[in-house]
This record gives sequence, C-alpha cells and structure tokens, in this order.
Amino acid sequence: MALEITIERSAQLKQKPDENKLGFGQYYTDHMFILEYTEGKGWHSGRVVPYQNISLDPAAKVFHYGQTVFEGMKAYRTEDGIKLFRPKKNFERLNKSNARLSIPHLDEELAYEGLIKLLDVDREWVPSAEGTSLYIRPFIIATEPALGVNPSLNYLFMIIMSPVGAYYAEGVNPVKIHVESHFVRAVAGGVGEAKTAGNYAAGLNAQEEAKDRGYSQVLWLDGVHRKYIEEVGSMNVFFKINGVVVTPQLNGSILNGITRNSVITLLKHWDVPVEERRISIDELIEAHRNGQLEEAFGTGTAAVISPIGELSYNDEKYVINEGKTGELSSKIYDTITGIQKGTVEDPFGWLV
Ligand code: COI
Repeated sequence: MALEITIERSAQLKQKPDENKLGFGQYYTDHMFILEYTEGKGWHSGRVVPYQNISLDPAAKVFHYGQTVFEGMKAYRTEDGIKLFRPKKNFERLNKSNARLSIPHLDEELAYEGLIKLLDVDREWVPSAEGTSLYIRPFIIATEPALGVNPSLNYLFMIIMSPVGAYYAEGVNPVKIHVESHFVRAVAGGVGEAKTAGNYAAGLNAQEEAKDRGYSQVLWLDGVHRKYIEEVGSMNVFFKINGVVVTPQLNGSILNGITRNSVITLLKHWDVPVEERRISIDELIEAHRNGQLEEAFGTGTAAVISPIGELSYNDEKYVINEGKTGELSSKIYDTITGIQKGTVEDPFGWLV
C-alpha cells in the first residue's frame, strides 16, 4: 500500500526496566503506532509517535458500546536479530474480529508495515533475559462521539508494546483451575470467537471468585448446556487422555488461538494423535476416574503453555499428573519457545 508512515521520535527516552522483574504489561516502550479511520476517507495518517495519552470525547462509542478489538503477539531477541512469531495470523484474525464487531476492514499489509516501523524505532526494548519477550498489543477503538447504537464512523488503530516476563506468576508450573458451572464466557452466535474487550470483562467476576477460593483461573463450559468445555481463563485448552490429545473444536464461541493452531500442527508433525472435537466435563471427569487423564494445559500467546495441575468441580478436587507439569506439555513448551528464540529448528517457517 502506498500510504506513507511518518516517524516522530521521542526527545526523551525512558529508562528501561530490570529485565528480571518485568511481570506482564507493566512497562511500555518509547513509541506507539497510530492509524486513523474516517468515514469516506478510509484508513489514513499512519504514524509512529512518542508513547503518550490520547484524548477522546467522552461520548466516543468505544466507552459505551464496546466497539473494539485487539490482538496479542510477541517479538523475540534471537541470535539472528529480532523475530516475530506468525504475525500475519494476528492481522488476519484482527480482521475477522473487525467483521464481527462491524469495524471496517484494515489493510493487513499496512498494519504490518506500521508494526515493523514501530519495532524498528523501539528495537532496544526487545528484552533478552530468559523467558522474556516484547508483547505487542494492536487494537482498534470506535471514536465517533455519538450515542446512537450504530457502527462508529471513526476509529483509531494503535499498536503499543510492553517488555514482558511470565504471564502467570507460576510461569510454566501447573495452576489450579476451578470448573465454572454458573457463569459463561461466551455463547454460540455471540462474540466469543472475536478478540474483543467484552469477552474479557465478562470473565472477570468468575476469575475473581475462583481466586478467592484459591484457584488461578476458571475452566469455561458452553453457554447452552453448561456441559462442553470451551476455554481455560483467557486461553485455549488441551487434554491428553489415554495417549490422545483432545481440544475443543472451534464453534464460534471459542477463540481461534494462534498458539492453539501451532500446538495442533506440532502434534501432527510428531505423529501424536490429536482431535478437535466436543468434549464434555463429564467425559473429562470420567477419564480422570479411570486414570486416563494424563495431562491438561492452556495455550495462548501470553503464557504459551500453562499446565493444569488440579481441577475443582462440584466441590471435588481432581489432581492431574500428581500436580506436576506433564512430559508432553514440557516438550511443547520447550519446542515453541525454542522456535521463538531461534534455538530450535523451525520447520514451519513460523518465525519472521
Ligand atoms: C493470551 O493468552 O495471549 C491472551 O489472550 C491473554 C491476554 C489477553 C493477556
């Protein structure tokens, strides 16, 4: 696309945080990318500017009706330079979310070019300590100041970036999960497959209740039957049952995770049987009772792999693999993070 992206460099660079104490999403780089959408004009005025507050009319539609989408991806410092993991998939998915939220299609090449320019300006911010990366958050907000319930006429697409360590304090150690049988995250026909703010807001109260009971997150069941497993916290979920890896099939209410897709691809590459299908909580509990529930883990960009060491369901506790990280979970984690860091061969060309 022949749209020029301008660069305004910050006159005062921030002090970089200690790479060993990054946490997740606590610090932001010196610059950000902005692209505007105006009805009749399309996307325009792409620019890299110093990281700063933005000013919006209080009537901006995003505040009232949640017309917004986002993405999450990471950049890694490797021996061979700075690399991104399957970034085009994120922009593809952003447009799928856009379509669901009535947000105009975004030129994926232009968004990608904006990211590359921003990354180039802030390249010193990509951390190198073990387990760290630069988390990239592209997002779109509806900015038209109008309270009528209609798609906004104006939008902002922005990219901000944050050097991060582990998402969960537990890192790759197993977490305890509460099976949520009252609240649901998403419903068939709703917006569960879109990466949009409301899905995350909708999950907060169950997450807080689970935390009060000593659990890190919840296992979400479907919104119709309260029976079929959908996701774990804000991640996709996998189970190894009697040698077969099972993950809920995409049904419109489950996020089409890029790490999910990478795990399925890897398992197939290794000839490990993997099934995308409906799986009920009853089947899972039955497999546990029979000693066949060998491993369970969540997958997502932020944490990569998060093993599940214990489930609580209907006041009963089900410990998985003695509460330890399973062999397959570890192998997947080591392989994906190895590919991302450039220390493991990347047969799929995921790193760019
Ligand atoms: C991820 O696992 O990458 C997520 O979607 C969590 C993110 C919203 C912090």
